[in-house]
Amino acid sequence: MASKGKVGIVGSGFIGRGWAMLFASVGYEVKLFDVESSKIDDALADIQMQLNKLEETGYLRGHLSAAEQFSLISKCDTLKQCVSDSIHVQECVFENVDLKRKVFQEMDAFASNDVVLCSSTSCFPASSFSEDLVHKSQVIVGHPVNPPYYVPLVEVVPAPWTDPSVVIRTKNLMTDIGQRPVVLNKEVPGFAVNRVQYALLDECWRMVRDGIMSVEDIDTSMKEGLGLRYAFIGPLETCHLNADGMLDYCNRYGQGINKVSETFGPNPRMEGELAEKVNEEICKISPVEKLAERRCWREARLTALAHLKKILKEQDEAQ
Ligand SMILES: NC(=O)c1ccc[n+]([C@@H]2O[C@H](COP(=O)([O-])OP(=O)(O)OC[C@H]3O[C@@H](n4cnc5c(N)ncnc54)[C@H](O)[C@@H]3O)[C@@H](O)[C@H]2O)c1
Repeated sequence: MASKGKVGIVGSGFIGRGWAMLFASVGYEVKLFDVESSKIDDALADIQMQLNKLEETGYLRGHLSAAEQFSLISKCDTLKQCVSDSIHVQECVFENVDLKRKVFQEMDAFASNDVVLCSSTSCFPASSFSEDLVHKSQVIVGHPVNPPYYVPLVEVVPAPWTDPSVVIRTKNLMTDIGQRPVVLNKEVPGFAVNRVQYALLDECWRMVRDGIMSVEDIDTSMKEGLGLRYAFIGPLETCHLNADGMLDYCNRYGQGINKVSETFGPNPRMEGELAEKVNEEICKISPVEKLAERRCWREARLTALAHLKKILKEQDEAQ
């Protein structure tokens, strides 16, 4: 099959597999590399199984068949084979900054002057592992949300020395594979998604600590409340719609919100007795022995939601 270009994936774990499927879904030739060769075999078997299942259930992405998509993904024996001639390399190794630095140094040696070297890191800014590289202007973060095949958001985060054209190319590539990139103008710890997520988690932990609500009711407040609207509109547009526009919302509710926010106090520590308490309550709802089952259920639900959102978007566009 004619490919749209070669993409290298370094690390064939959960995230590497997800990226491989996404790039192949629109016709890129994907080369998978891992330090443990057997993990690539496992990843290929898993990807084939997932693609076939997605095809059977009607949730396969892109316009190619599962067999055509799978034929675009193959194993490489060396990092050099993975990086050479690639237009984009997506690094997906363990979340360890020393390892990232080492892997980027190795990739630097095989990189052409126009390949994009993109890290899936959840929290390390590109500047923390690319400073000494020859091709440092080609390094960027493309942080996915797990599982990337079902959740389209990608945070694109350049280092101070990343060439602006690399930001545009990464954004365009992510859009081409059906993901939804958002660009951070500068590096910040936790990037954007985790900063918002951590602010939310901090308040959930405070409410358990202060005996305000049970763990179950806190999670219910999101999944039966805020979460429903957040699947379609963000927190800022929510304000805009909940009054006669944003400025009216600020006039009506701004002071009250500020007063509540001032009561939040310091961040709770996720450790000790409080961690034990949260764990005990969450295990009653979702037992540790059944986590794998529950993850499959989550993926099925996210797939159905992604499908619903696609149908509704098509309806919106047709109006
Ligand atoms: N899992 C998540 O929820 C999630 C979400 C977003 C981003 N990320 C990020 O994606 C990256 C990968 O996470 P994951 O969950 O896929 O991890 P994982 O443990 O499933 O897979 C990591 C893979 O990297 C391989 N590896 C280790 N050292 C290597 C090297 N030097 N060269 C090549 N391969 C090597 C390992 O053998 C393993 O197969 C991390 O940076 C993580 O923070 C993870």
